[in-house]
Amino acid sequence: MTTATLGLADTLKTQTQAAHTAAERHEFQGRLFRGLLGDEAYAALLGQYYLVHKALTSALSKAGADGRVASLFKPFHVYPQLFEADLKEFSVLPGSVKPLPATAQMLRELESASAPTLIGCAYVAEGSTNGGKFIGQALRRSLNRPNGEGLSSLDPHGDAQRERWGAFRAGLDALELSETDRQAVVAGAERYFRYVLELMQELSRAFPPAPGALPLTR
Ligand code: HEM
Repeated sequence: MTTATLGLADTLKTQTQAAHTAAERHEFQGRLFRGLLGDEAYAALLGQYYLVHKALTSALSKAGADGRVASLFKPFHVYPQLFEADLKEFSVLPGSVKPLPATAQMLRELESASAPTLIGCAYVAEGSTNGGKFIGQALRRSLNRPNGEGLSSLDPHGDAQRERWGAFRAGLDALELSETDRQAVVAGAERYFRYVLELMQELSRAFPPAPGALPLTR
């Protein structure tokens, strides 16, 4: 339901709540949060997010002529350099990262996605920086990286997080959208969450938990 009684920001939050819980509770995400992934698996995740970040921000830049995209999407939302620095910290050359199947499919879809779909994807990517900030703090300890070396893309906004997220949500609420476009924004957000879950499945298979490890529950 995308009724006019809820603003778009609240609609997105409500409609994707179950997907957020599924992502948050995924065993791969659980191992990430607990610092149990190890450098190689963490760098593999980082690399995939890097490719999607570049594709999404490039598609949003191209869609900038659409005033709705321009009103939301700011230069500080584009930070491939943080991913690149983080990847190098884990001894991965950014140019060497190859998309896994879930990422390859997402990259194809982003190339031809409409402005409302891109806005939905950007909502999830941006929203994830809220949790990323906490994850980054946890990893500083568990991966023994006290100054956040290799973790900068988890917390791209630093002290401006709250203010920028608030502005993004207000921007979502201020968008003028037809009901069809509004539904496309929600579908874009759902699609992006589905991508994240598919990616975690693929990474979970590529980097399985240690034998005998207890299933992770939250
Ligand atoms: C252990 C993993 C995670 C934790 C602990 C976590 C935690 C959080 C927290 C604390 C917030 C802020 C809620 C608020 O201020 O209202 C948040 C928001 C959000 N997170 Fe996560 N998160 C996690 C994983 C993810 C993942 C994997 C994604 C998707 C890539 C994601 C997407 C979002 C989105 C879209 C929001 C914005 C929700 C809204 O509309 O307010 N999160 N998360």
